[in-house]
Amino acid sequence: MSEAPQSRQLDQETGNTPAPQHTKIDWSNLPENVFKSMEARTASTCAAYLLPTLKEMKAENPQLTLLDVGAGSGSISAEFAQLVGPNGHVTAVDLNPGVIPRAKVVAEQWRVSNISFQTADAYKLAFDDETFDIVHCHQVLVHCKNPWEILREMLRVTKLGGVVAAREGDLETEVMWPPLPGLLKFHHDFEVKLITDRGGHKNAGRQLLSWALRAGAKRDQITTSFGTWTYTEPEDRKMWATSMMEVALGPMLREKNVKAGVAEAEMDEMREAWAEWMNLDEAVMAQLHGEVVIRK
Ligand SMILES: C[S@@+](CC[C@H](N)C(=O)[O-])C[C@H]1O[C@@H](n2cnc3c(N)ncnc32)[C@H](O)[C@@H]1O
Repeated sequence: MSEAPQSRQLDQETGNTPAPQHTKIDWSNLPENVFKSMEARTASTCAAYLLPTLKEMKAENPQLTLLDVGAGSGSISAEFAQLVGPNGHVTAVDLNPGVIPRAKVVAEQWRVSNISFQTADAYKLAFDDETFDIVHCHQVLVHCKNPWEILREMLRVTKLGGVVAAREGDLETEVMWPPLPGLLKFHHDFEVKLITDRGGHKNAGRQLLSWALRAGAKRDQITTSFGTWTYTEPEDRKMWATSMMEVALGPMLREKNVKAGVAEAEMDEMREAWAEWMNLDEAVMAQLHGEVVIRK
């Protein structure tokens, strides 16, 4: 197995210096169905655009090292650990130390041991230059104020010949049916506000390429593609609607939403709309996601 790459300059308590811009979620209080919805994300479903490159790289070097930045509870990282194989290694990092115990459970469920976890701020990764073969993030830059700085940092810790890969949603490409008034309110006003009030970007997917260029990559180093999220099967609808009701509109963010000017009655209306939507056979929701692979 590849050795777990060593981090440097660790803060004694957290392992790194947290960036102030992201709302931390209290993972100890998340309902189980929300975990389940997040952990439906895998490398096969969320990083399919990267897998052919990963397989080619693994054929040349069975000891691949992969860094997953903003890994959350780590279901994508766990499948990466399976894919790099027993001689490779995955390091999963997140700003929020509260996710690590859950991520360890997820790794056990995936039966992978070639994975390690630590707290780290994507803006200041505590790794030396050129440490990893592959550096990946999924739905992280969309929440961060200066995403090109994170991409520059991801490029810094990538080995020459390695790749940086990112996939981010693009809220304004979201389509849904039927047009329930509470859902339209969620779609047009609330979710954009939720992301942008905290310094994030509503059009992250379409801007990924320009962010990669701003991070210092040359155009001929970058491959761009778009994927979709589609929720129309009953289980998928339930999974997505539940996480919107429990996280975006749930008790954890309720007070913050009120402070940001969202009325309690509006939140109730949007929650009811999601509850209705998830049980409708005609319900669909889809969103485009931008994807980039940057060769270093
Ligand atoms: C939407 S979740 C995505 C988790 C995982 N990548 C996935 O797609 O399932 C965003 C994650 O990014 C983390 N995050 C946000 N800002 C970060 C930063 N500056 N450094 C590291 N992680 C960060 C959050 O704590 C959160 O776990």
